[in-house]
Amino acid sequence: MTIFADMITLDDIRKPVTAELEALDEFVDRQFTAEGELLSDMLRYALSARGKGIRPMLVMLSAAMNAPVKGAAAGRRACLAAMLVEMIHVASLIHDDVIDEADMRRGKPSANARWPSHKAVILGDYILAKNMNIGLQSGQFDLVTHVCGSMAALCEGEVLQDECAANSTMTRQAYLDIIYKKTASLLGVSASAGALAVGATRDRVATMRRFGEAVGMAFQIQDDILDYTPTAHTGKPANNDLREGKITLPLLSVLDRASDSRRRELLERLSRCHESDEEVEYLRSTVENEGGLSFAAEVMQGYSFPTRRSSDLPPKLINLNIDRFYGTKEKLHLAHRHDVLALCNDLLRDGTFESAGRHREESVRRGELDVPAGQLRQLHRLCRDGHSGGHDAQAHRL
Ligand code: FPP
Ligand code: MG
Repeated sequence: MTIFADMITLDDIRKPVTAELEALDEFVDRQFTAEGELLSDMLRYALSARGKGIRPMLVMLSAAMNAPVKGAAAGRRACLAAMLVEMIHVASLIHDDVIDEADMRRGKPSANARWPSHKAVILGDYILAKNMNIGLQSGQFDLVTHVCGSMAALCEGEVLQDECAANSTMTRQAYLDIIYKKTASLLGVSASAGALAVGATRDRVATMRRFGEAVGMAFQIQDDILDYTPTAHTGKPANNDLREGKITLPLLSVLDRASDSRRRELLERLSRCHESDEEVEYLRSTVENEGGLSFAAEVMQGYSFPTRRSSDLPPKLINLNIDRFYGTKEKLHLAHRHDVLALCNDLLRDGTFESAGRHREESVRRGELDVPAGQLRQLHRLCRDGHSGGHDAQAHRL
Protein backbone atom coordinates (compact mmCIF):
# COMPACT_ATOMS: atom_id res chain seq x y z
CA MET A 1 0.00 0.00 0.00
CA THR A 2 1.35 3.39 -0.89
CA ILE A 3 1.98 5.79 1.97
CA PHE A 4 0.59 9.18 1.13
CA ALA A 5 2.76 12.03 2.25
CA ASP A 6 1.47 15.53 1.71
CA MET A 7 -2.10 15.33 2.90
CA ILE A 8 -4.16 18.34 1.97
CA THR A 9 -7.64 19.31 2.95
CA LEU A 10 -10.61 19.90 0.76
CA ASP A 11 -10.33 23.56 1.78
CA ASP A 12 -6.84 23.65 0.30
CA ILE A 13 -8.19 22.37 -2.97
CA ARG A 14 -11.04 24.84 -2.89
CA LYS A 15 -8.80 27.78 -2.01
CA PRO A 16 -7.98 28.99 -5.54
CA VAL A 17 -11.69 29.43 -6.26
CA THR A 18 -13.07 30.46 -2.85
CA ALA A 19 -14.11 33.90 -4.09
CA GLU A 20 -15.89 32.40 -7.11
CA LEU A 21 -17.76 29.93 -4.91
CA GLU A 22 -18.85 32.71 -2.57
CA ALA A 23 -20.10 34.66 -5.57
CA LEU A 24 -21.98 31.53 -6.64
CA ASP A 25 -23.71 31.25 -3.25
CA GLU A 26 -24.85 34.86 -3.53
CA PHE A 27 -26.04 34.31 -7.09
CA VAL A 28 -28.04 31.21 -6.07
CA ASP A 29 -29.59 33.03 -3.09
CA ARG A 30 -30.63 35.90 -5.35
CA GLN A 31 -32.03 33.69 -8.11
CA PHE A 32 -33.69 30.91 -6.17
CA THR A 33 -36.64 32.55 -4.49
CA ALA A 34 -40.19 31.26 -4.45
CA GLU A 35 -43.70 32.57 -4.16
CA GLY A 36 -45.72 31.58 -1.10
CA GLU A 37 -44.59 30.73 2.41
CA LEU A 38 -44.49 26.96 2.12
CA LEU A 39 -42.50 26.80 -1.10
CA SER A 40 -40.14 29.52 0.18
CA ASP A 41 -39.56 27.53 3.38
CA MET A 42 -38.94 24.33 1.49
CA LEU A 43 -36.59 26.00 -0.96
CA ARG A 44 -34.61 27.67 1.82
CA TYR A 45 -34.34 24.30 3.58
CA ALA A 46 -33.09 22.58 0.41
CA LEU A 47 -30.52 25.30 -0.25
CA SER A 48 -29.25 25.36 3.32
CA ALA A 49 -28.84 21.58 3.39
CA ARG A 50 -26.45 21.55 0.44
CA GLY A 51 -23.31 19.43 0.66
CA LYS A 52 -19.69 20.25 0.11
CA GLY A 53 -20.19 21.61 -3.38
CA ILE A 54 -17.82 19.26 -5.15
CA ARG A 55 -19.52 19.80 -8.51
CA PRO A 56 -19.42 23.62 -8.53
CA MET A 57 -15.87 23.45 -7.21
CA LEU A 58 -14.91 21.30 -10.20
CA VAL A 59 -16.60 23.78 -12.55
CA MET A 60 -14.69 26.71 -11.06
CA LEU A 61 -11.34 24.93 -10.92
CA SER A 62 -11.69 23.78 -14.48
CA ALA A 63 -12.70 27.29 -15.57
CA ALA A 64 -9.70 28.80 -13.77
CA MET A 65 -7.37 26.21 -15.23
CA ASN A 66 -8.57 26.66 -18.79
CA ALA A 67 -9.03 30.44 -18.74
CA PRO A 68 -7.12 32.16 -21.54
CA VAL A 69 -5.62 34.58 -19.02
CA LYS A 70 -4.00 32.76 -16.11
CA GLY A 71 -5.55 33.58 -12.79
CA ALA A 72 -8.45 35.47 -14.36
CA ALA A 73 -11.66 35.29 -12.32
CA ALA A 74 -13.99 32.64 -13.70
CA GLY A 75 -16.78 35.07 -14.52
CA ARG A 76 -20.47 34.97 -15.18
CA ARG A 77 -20.58 31.94 -17.48
CA ALA A 78 -18.71 29.71 -15.03
CA CYS A 79 -21.01 30.89 -12.25
CA LEU A 80 -24.02 29.98 -14.35
CA ALA A 81 -22.59 26.56 -15.20
CA ALA A 82 -21.82 25.91 -11.53
CA MET A 83 -25.36 26.84 -10.56
CA LEU A 84 -26.83 24.56 -13.24
CA VAL A 85 -24.88 21.46 -12.15
CA GLU A 86 -25.34 22.07 -8.45
CA MET A 87 -29.08 22.56 -8.64
CA ILE A 88 -29.55 19.46 -10.83
CA HIS A 89 -27.66 17.59 -8.13
CA VAL A 90 -29.76 19.09 -5.31
CA ALA A 91 -33.04 18.25 -7.10
CA SER A 92 -31.94 14.72 -7.96
CA LEU A 93 -31.12 13.96 -4.31
CA ILE A 94 -34.50 15.29 -3.17
CA HIS A 95 -36.16 12.92 -5.64
CA ASP A 96 -33.78 10.11 -4.74
CA ASP A 97 -34.70 10.36 -1.05
CA VAL A 98 -38.38 10.12 -1.94
CA ILE A 99 -37.70 7.02 -4.06
CA ASP A 100 -35.50 5.44 -1.38
CA GLU A 101 -37.84 6.60 1.41
CA ALA A 102 -34.73 7.93 3.13
CA ASP A 103 -35.21 9.96 6.32
CA MET A 104 -31.77 11.51 6.56
CA ARG A 105 -29.53 13.43 4.22
CA ARG A 106 -26.23 14.99 5.33
CA GLY A 107 -27.13 14.50 8.97
CA LYS A 108 -30.45 16.37 8.66
CA PRO A 109 -34.00 15.16 7.99
CA SER A 110 -34.52 14.73 4.25
CA ALA A 111 -37.14 16.94 2.54
CA ASN A 112 -39.55 13.98 2.47
CA ALA A 113 -39.05 13.51 6.21
CA ARG A 114 -39.86 17.19 6.89
CA TRP A 115 -42.80 17.40 4.49
CA PRO A 116 -45.06 14.83 2.85
CA SER A 117 -43.35 13.04 -0.05
CA HIS A 118 -45.52 14.55 -2.75
CA LYS A 119 -44.46 18.02 -1.62
CA ALA A 120 -40.81 16.97 -1.72
CA VAL A 121 -41.31 15.78 -5.32
CA ILE A 122 -42.73 19.18 -6.25
CA LEU A 123 -39.83 20.89 -4.51
CA GLY A 124 -37.38 18.93 -6.69
CA ASP A 125 -39.41 19.75 -9.80
CA TYR A 126 -39.54 23.42 -8.82
CA ILE A 127 -35.76 23.59 -8.43
CA LEU A 128 -35.28 21.97 -11.84
CA ALA A 129 -37.81 24.33 -13.45
CA LYS A 130 -36.19 27.42 -11.91
CA ASN A 131 -32.77 26.18 -12.93
CA MET A 132 -33.85 25.74 -16.52
CA ASN A 133 -35.54 29.15 -16.59
CA ILE A 134 -32.52 30.97 -15.22
CA GLY A 135 -30.29 29.11 -17.69
CA LEU A 136 -32.45 29.90 -20.70
CA GLN A 137 -32.98 33.52 -19.72
CA SER A 138 -29.23 33.98 -19.56
CA GLY A 139 -29.01 33.20 -23.26
CA GLN A 140 -25.97 30.95 -22.71
CA PHE A 141 -27.52 28.12 -24.69
CA ASP A 142 -24.29 26.15 -25.20
CA LEU A 143 -23.87 25.84 -21.42
CA VAL A 144 -27.51 24.98 -20.79
CA THR A 145 -27.41 22.29 -23.51
CA HIS A 146 -24.12 20.87 -22.23
CA VAL A 147 -25.17 20.68 -18.59
CA CYS A 148 -28.83 19.77 -18.91
CA GLY A 149 -27.99 16.86 -21.22
CA SER A 150 -26.88 15.03 -18.08
CA MET A 151 -30.37 14.95 -16.54
CA ALA A 152 -31.54 12.08 -18.75
CA ALA A 153 -28.50 10.02 -17.72
CA LEU A 154 -29.37 10.51 -14.04
CA CYS A 155 -32.88 9.20 -14.65
CA GLU A 156 -31.60 6.23 -16.70
CA GLY A 157 -29.16 5.31 -13.94
CA GLU A 158 -31.89 5.49 -11.33
CA VAL A 159 -34.28 3.29 -13.33
CA LEU A 160 -31.58 0.73 -14.09
CA GLN A 161 -30.60 0.62 -10.41
CA ASP A 162 -34.22 0.17 -9.41
CA GLU A 163 -34.75 -2.66 -11.90
CA CYS A 164 -31.63 -4.47 -10.70
CA ALA A 165 -32.68 -4.11 -7.05
CA ALA A 166 -36.24 -5.29 -7.78
CA ASN A 167 -34.99 -8.41 -9.59
CA SER A 168 -32.01 -8.99 -7.28
CA THR A 169 -29.81 -9.11 -10.37
CA MET A 170 -26.63 -7.23 -10.98
CA THR A 171 -23.65 -7.65 -13.25
CA ARG A 172 -20.34 -5.81 -13.18
CA GLN A 173 -21.26 -4.04 -16.40
CA ALA A 174 -24.68 -2.99 -15.10
CA TYR A 175 -23.08 -1.71 -11.89
CA LEU A 176 -20.54 0.40 -13.77
CA ASP A 177 -23.24 1.66 -16.09
CA ILE A 178 -25.41 2.69 -13.15
CA ILE A 179 -22.68 4.56 -11.32
CA TYR A 180 -21.54 6.18 -14.53
CA LYS A 181 -25.03 7.46 -15.20
CA LYS A 182 -26.07 8.45 -11.71
CA THR A 183 -22.78 10.00 -10.55
CA ALA A 184 -19.88 10.09 -13.01
CA SER A 185 -21.78 11.72 -15.85
CA LEU A 186 -22.64 14.84 -13.81
CA LEU A 187 -19.09 15.15 -12.46
CA GLY A 188 -17.81 14.83 -16.04
CA VAL A 189 -20.24 17.52 -17.11
CA SER A 190 -19.11 19.73 -14.21
CA ALA A 191 -15.43 19.53 -15.08
CA SER A 192 -16.08 20.07 -18.78
CA ALA A 193 -18.62 22.88 -18.27
CA GLY A 194 -15.92 24.96 -16.55
CA ALA A 195 -13.70 24.60 -19.61
CA LEU A 196 -16.59 25.32 -21.98
CA ALA A 197 -17.53 28.40 -19.97
CA VAL A 198 -14.15 30.01 -20.65
CA GLY A 199 -14.02 29.07 -24.32
CA ALA A 200 -11.58 26.12 -24.17
CA THR A 201 -11.11 23.98 -27.29
CA ARG A 202 -13.30 20.94 -27.92
CA ASP A 203 -10.38 18.64 -27.12
CA ARG A 204 -9.85 20.31 -23.77
CA VAL A 205 -13.52 20.18 -22.96
CA ALA A 206 -13.56 16.44 -23.80
CA THR A 207 -10.46 15.77 -21.70
CA MET A 208 -11.92 17.61 -18.73
CA ARG A 209 -15.04 15.54 -19.12
CA ARG A 210 -13.09 12.27 -18.99
CA PHE A 211 -11.23 13.54 -15.94
CA GLY A 212 -14.47 14.42 -14.14
CA GLU A 213 -16.03 11.09 -15.09
CA ALA A 214 -13.09 9.15 -13.70
CA VAL A 215 -13.28 11.16 -10.47
CA GLY A 216 -17.01 10.39 -10.40
CA MET A 217 -16.51 6.64 -10.83
CA ALA A 218 -13.99 6.61 -7.96
CA PHE A 219 -16.26 8.84 -5.88
CA GLN A 220 -19.30 6.55 -6.24
CA ILE A 221 -17.38 3.34 -5.60
CA GLN A 222 -15.97 4.89 -2.44
CA ASP A 223 -19.47 5.99 -1.44
CA ASP A 224 -20.62 2.39 -1.88
CA ILE A 225 -17.72 1.14 0.24
CA LEU A 226 -18.55 3.66 2.97
CA ASP A 227 -22.09 2.38 3.11
CA TYR A 228 -20.60 -0.76 4.68
CA THR A 229 -18.59 1.24 7.19
CA PRO A 230 -20.50 1.99 10.42
CA THR A 231 -18.04 4.69 11.47
CA ALA A 232 -18.15 6.68 8.21
CA HIS A 233 -19.35 10.23 8.82
CA THR A 234 -21.53 10.48 5.78
CA GLY A 235 -24.65 11.95 7.36
CA LYS A 236 -26.51 8.82 6.24
CA PRO A 237 -27.35 5.69 8.25
CA ALA A 238 -24.92 2.79 7.66
CA ASN A 239 -25.89 -0.15 5.45
CA ASN A 240 -28.58 1.78 3.64
CA ASP A 241 -27.83 -0.02 0.40
CA LEU A 242 -28.39 -3.45 1.94
CA ARG A 243 -31.63 -2.29 3.54
CA GLU A 244 -32.76 -0.97 0.15
CA GLY A 245 -31.82 -4.29 -1.52
CA LYS A 246 -29.09 -2.62 -3.60
CA ILE A 247 -26.24 -4.74 -4.85
CA THR A 248 -23.17 -2.52 -5.09
CA LEU A 249 -19.60 -3.50 -5.93
CA PRO A 250 -18.55 -4.87 -2.50
CA LEU A 251 -21.44 -7.36 -2.39
CA LEU A 252 -21.29 -8.00 -6.11
CA SER A 253 -17.68 -9.14 -5.90
CA VAL A 254 -18.64 -11.66 -3.19
CA LEU A 255 -21.65 -12.89 -5.18
CA ASP A 256 -19.50 -13.29 -8.30
CA ARG A 257 -17.13 -15.61 -6.46
CA ALA A 258 -19.82 -17.63 -4.64
CA SER A 259 -21.15 -21.04 -5.67
CA ASP A 260 -24.68 -21.12 -7.12
CA SER A 261 -26.25 -22.30 -3.88
CA ARG A 262 -24.33 -19.80 -1.75
CA ARG A 263 -25.28 -17.03 -4.16
CA ARG A 264 -28.96 -18.01 -3.87
CA GLU A 265 -28.67 -17.98 -0.08
CA LEU A 266 -27.05 -14.53 -0.02
CA LEU A 267 -29.70 -13.12 -2.37
CA GLU A 268 -32.47 -14.54 -0.19
CA ARG A 269 -30.90 -12.90 2.82
CA LEU A 270 -30.66 -9.63 0.87
CA SER A 271 -34.37 -9.77 0.10
CA ARG A 272 -35.05 -9.84 3.88
CA CYS A 273 -32.70 -6.95 4.73
CA HIS A 274 -35.41 -4.28 4.61
CA GLU A 275 -37.03 -5.87 7.67
CA SER A 276 -34.21 -7.71 9.42
CA ASP A 277 -31.18 -6.19 11.16
CA GLU A 278 -29.75 -9.70 11.59
CA GLU A 279 -29.68 -10.27 7.83
CA VAL A 280 -28.10 -6.85 7.30
CA GLU A 281 -25.39 -7.69 9.83
CA TYR A 282 -24.85 -11.15 8.30
CA LEU A 283 -24.33 -9.70 4.81
CA ARG A 284 -22.22 -6.80 6.07
CA SER A 285 -19.80 -9.10 7.87
CA THR A 286 -19.77 -11.56 4.97
CA VAL A 287 -18.81 -8.80 2.56
CA GLU A 288 -16.10 -7.57 4.91
CA ASN A 289 -14.70 -11.03 5.70
CA GLU A 290 -14.76 -12.24 2.10
CA GLY A 291 -12.76 -9.29 0.75
CA GLY A 292 -15.61 -7.37 -0.91
CA LEU A 293 -14.48 -4.02 0.48
CA SER A 294 -10.84 -4.42 -0.47
CA PHE A 295 -11.80 -5.60 -3.96
CA ALA A 296 -13.98 -2.52 -4.43
CA ALA A 297 -11.16 -0.33 -3.11
CA GLU A 298 -8.84 -1.78 -5.76
CA VAL A 299 -11.31 -1.00 -8.49
CA MET A 300 -11.73 2.49 -7.07
CA GLN A 301 -7.98 2.99 -7.21
CA GLY A 302 -8.10 2.13 -10.89
CA TYR A 303 -10.00 5.33 -11.49
CA SER A 304 -7.44 7.40 -9.59
CA PHE A 305 -4.55 8.87 -11.43
CA PRO A 306 -0.99 7.75 -11.04
CA THR A 307 1.05 10.32 -12.94
CA ARG A 308 4.23 9.93 -14.94
CA ARG A 309 7.42 8.91 -13.19
CA SER A 310 10.19 11.43 -13.60
CA SER A 311 13.73 11.64 -12.34
CA ASP A 312 13.29 14.76 -10.26
CA LEU A 313 10.10 13.74 -8.51
CA PRO A 314 9.18 10.61 -6.61
CA PRO A 315 6.44 8.51 -8.20
CA LYS A 316 3.19 10.21 -7.46
CA LEU A 317 -0.06 8.50 -6.88
CA ILE A 318 -2.94 10.88 -6.75
CA ASN A 319 -5.43 8.92 -4.81
CA LEU A 320 -8.85 10.39 -4.45
CA ASN A 321 -9.58 8.73 -1.17
CA ILE A 322 -13.00 10.10 -0.90
CA ASP A 323 -13.90 8.85 2.53
CA ARG A 324 -11.93 11.84 3.75
CA PHE A 325 -14.46 14.14 2.16
CA TYR A 326 -16.73 13.27 4.99
CA GLY A 327 -16.58 14.12 8.67
CA THR A 328 -14.24 16.50 10.33
CA LYS A 329 -11.01 15.66 8.57
CA GLU A 330 -12.17 16.34 5.06
CA LYS A 331 -8.94 15.22 3.54
CA LEU A 332 -8.07 14.20 0.08
CA HIS A 333 -4.94 12.19 -0.33
CA LEU A 334 -3.11 13.97 -3.06
CA ALA A 335 0.48 12.98 -2.80
CA HIS A 336 2.88 15.76 -3.78
CA ARG A 337 0.07 17.87 -5.09
CA HIS A 338 -1.29 21.08 -3.72
CA ASP A 339 -4.63 21.39 -5.38
CA VAL A 340 -6.89 19.98 -8.00
CA LEU A 341 -5.76 22.69 -10.37
CA ALA A 342 -2.33 21.15 -10.36
CA LEU A 343 -3.91 17.74 -10.66
CA CYS A 344 -5.83 18.81 -13.76
CA ASN A 345 -2.69 20.34 -15.22
CA ASP A 346 -0.80 17.12 -14.65
CA LEU A 347 -3.52 15.13 -16.21
CA LEU A 348 -3.44 17.15 -19.38
CA ARG A 349 0.34 17.42 -19.59
CA ASP A 350 1.27 13.85 -18.83
CA GLY A 351 -1.29 11.85 -20.75
CA THR A 352 -2.23 10.44 -17.41
CA PHE A 353 -5.09 8.31 -18.62
CA GLU A 354 -2.55 6.10 -20.38
CA SER A 355 -0.68 5.62 -17.12
CA ALA A 356 -3.90 4.88 -15.26
CA GLY A 357 -4.43 2.03 -17.69
CA ARG A 358 -0.84 0.86 -17.29
CA HIS A 359 -1.12 0.95 -13.52
CA ARG A 360 -4.11 -1.34 -13.77
CA GLU A 361 -2.29 -3.68 -16.13
CA GLU A 362 0.58 -3.95 -13.64
CA SER A 363 -1.89 -4.72 -10.88
CA VAL A 364 -3.38 -7.49 -13.00
CA ARG A 365 0.03 -8.94 -13.68
CA ARG A 366 0.76 -8.95 -9.95
CA GLY A 367 -2.49 -10.83 -9.50
CA GLU A 368 -4.10 -8.03 -7.53
CA LEU A 369 -7.00 -7.56 -9.89
CA ASP A 370 -8.93 -10.15 -11.75
CA VAL A 371 -9.35 -8.19 -14.95
CA PRO A 372 -9.65 -9.81 -18.37
CA ALA A 373 -7.04 -8.39 -20.74
CA GLY A 374 -9.52 -7.65 -23.54
CA GLN A 375 -11.53 -5.41 -21.30
CA LEU A 376 -8.40 -3.65 -20.12
CA ARG A 377 -7.59 -2.84 -23.71
CA GLN A 378 -10.99 -1.26 -23.98
CA LEU A 379 -10.18 0.90 -20.98
CA HIS A 380 -6.92 1.87 -22.69
CA ARG A 381 -8.82 2.82 -25.79
CA LEU A 382 -11.24 4.93 -23.78
CA CYS A 383 -8.34 6.66 -22.08
CA ARG A 384 -6.45 7.21 -25.30
CA ASP A 385 -9.22 8.22 -27.64
CA GLY A 386 -11.72 9.51 -25.16
CA HIS A 387 -15.29 10.16 -25.99
CA SER A 388 -17.26 13.32 -25.92
CA GLY A 389 -20.72 12.80 -24.60
CA GLY A 390 -22.59 9.56 -24.18
CA HIS A 391 -21.14 6.57 -22.51
CA ASP A 392 -19.77 3.42 -23.97
CA ALA A 393 -20.62 0.96 -21.24
CA GLN A 394 -18.23 -1.54 -22.80
CA ALA A 395 -15.34 0.84 -22.31
CA HIS A 396 -15.95 0.99 -18.60
CA ARG A 397 -16.04 -2.78 -18.16
CA LEU A 398 -13.41 -4.18 -15.92
C1 FPP B 1 -28.02 8.99 -5.16
O1 FPP B 1 -27.77 7.62 -5.22
C2 FPP B 1 -28.79 9.36 -6.40
C3 FPP B 1 -28.31 9.98 -7.47
C4 FPP B 1 -26.89 10.40 -7.53
C5 FPP B 1 -29.14 10.28 -8.67
C6 FPP B 1 -30.64 10.27 -8.45
C7 FPP B 1 -31.37 10.54 -9.70
C8 FPP B 1 -32.72 10.58 -9.79
C9 FPP B 1 -33.61 10.39 -8.62
C10 FPP B 1 -33.35 10.84 -11.12
C11 FPP B 1 -33.98 12.21 -11.13
C12 FPP B 1 -33.10 13.14 -11.82
C13 FPP B 1 -33.22 14.48 -11.80
C14 FPP B 1 -32.37 15.31 -12.68
C15 FPP B 1 -34.21 15.19 -10.94
P1 FPP B 1 -27.84 6.70 -3.94
O2 FPP B 1 -29.25 6.48 -3.54
O3 FPP B 1 -27.03 5.49 -4.22
O4 FPP B 1 -27.03 7.55 -2.90
P2 FPP B 1 -27.44 8.06 -1.47
O5 FPP B 1 -26.96 7.02 -0.55
O6 FPP B 1 -26.67 9.36 -1.33
O7 FPP B 1 -28.92 8.26 -1.43
MG1 MG C 1 -30.48 7.19 -2.09
